[in-house]
Amino acid sequence: MLKDKVAVIYGAGGAIGGAVARAFAREGARLFLTGRRRPPVEAVAREVVAAGGSAEASEVDALDERAVDEHLRIVIDQAGRVDISFNAVGIPGTKILGVPLVELDVEQFSRPITTYATSYFLIARQAARRMVANKSGVILTATTQHSRMGLPLSGGYGPAMAAEEALTRVLSAELAPQGIRVVGLRPQAVPETGTLKEAFEARARVSGMTWEQFQELLASRTHPRRLMTLAEVANVAVFMASDNASGMTGTTVNLTMGSLDD
Ligand SMILES: NC(=O)c1ccc[n+]([C@@H]2O[C@H](COP(=O)([O-])OP(=O)(O)OC[C@H]3O[C@@H](n4cnc5c(N)ncnc54)[C@H](OP(=O)(O)O)[C@@H]3O)[C@@H](O)[C@H]2O)c1
Repeated sequence: MLKDKVAVIYGAGGAIGGAVARAFAREGARLFLTGRRRPPVEAVAREVVAAGGSAEASEVDALDERAVDEHLRIVIDQAGRVDISFNAVGIPGTKILGVPLVELDVEQFSRPITTYATSYFLIARQAARRMVANKSGVILTATTQHSRMGLPLSGGYGPAMAAEEALTRVLSAELAPQGIRVVGLRPQAVPETGTLKEAFEARARVSGMTWEQFQELLASRTHPRRLMTLAEVANVAVFMASDNASGMTGTTVNLTMGSLDD
């Protein structure tokens, strides 16, 4: 589905970024994987190459526009173009969740908003500047249902996710006339990820819930009464990045399995 597409993934050493990298490679994409720290990104790249795919690892801070720009220059030099940009940047929930809003420090509130919205903005516009030359490209990001639901003890995380989804719409309105699609994915919680364990730990301190009870509570809100796998998220990412999804732009795909009505 992605044969010979050139894809750049930010936060590729993380759970979602790594899963998307493996799925993109399986479908034939040429990968340029980046992350804040090099070792986890290198581990994913080695895995992709060992499975017969193509991947290069680089250290790129997605909040540093010059670093993003310089890396894309290298991608263009080596591959000639960028077809797909996937934002999987995430920050540890331990630093931003679990504190009631009335007690939340301003820096702790604004950190997710600044980090998520700004990194997505910088990545997207740097990718778009390259994609307009070919009048083609796909910019993707990942958010969560906190964007649209009043979930307690989430601090600035919900506002950050809502900002990303708004940015997806605005980017698409400006870029789609130039052949660039912009699409978000809003997956249900994924138990395989450290992110969900951190979200649990932040709440467990207050609620006394066990890990199993936490997963059961989240699963009970879905129609199939279960949570999502990383492979399921990555498979939708492949489709959205492919030309088969040419009719999708300016929207966030609701992967909450019924937890959140459209
Ligand atoms: N996990 C879930 O259940 C789930 C469900 C729905 C949506 N999502 C969303 O998916 C995204 C990724 O989540 P995840 O679970 O994959 O998180 P994760 O495993 O913590 O991965 C996030 C990655 O982002 C990297 N990163 C952080 N700051 C960066 C920066 N400034 N520049 C470049 N890379 C940076 C991290 O690198 P370091 O480790 O070096 O900091 C890490 O590799 C988030 O937006 C999250 O909200 C997750």
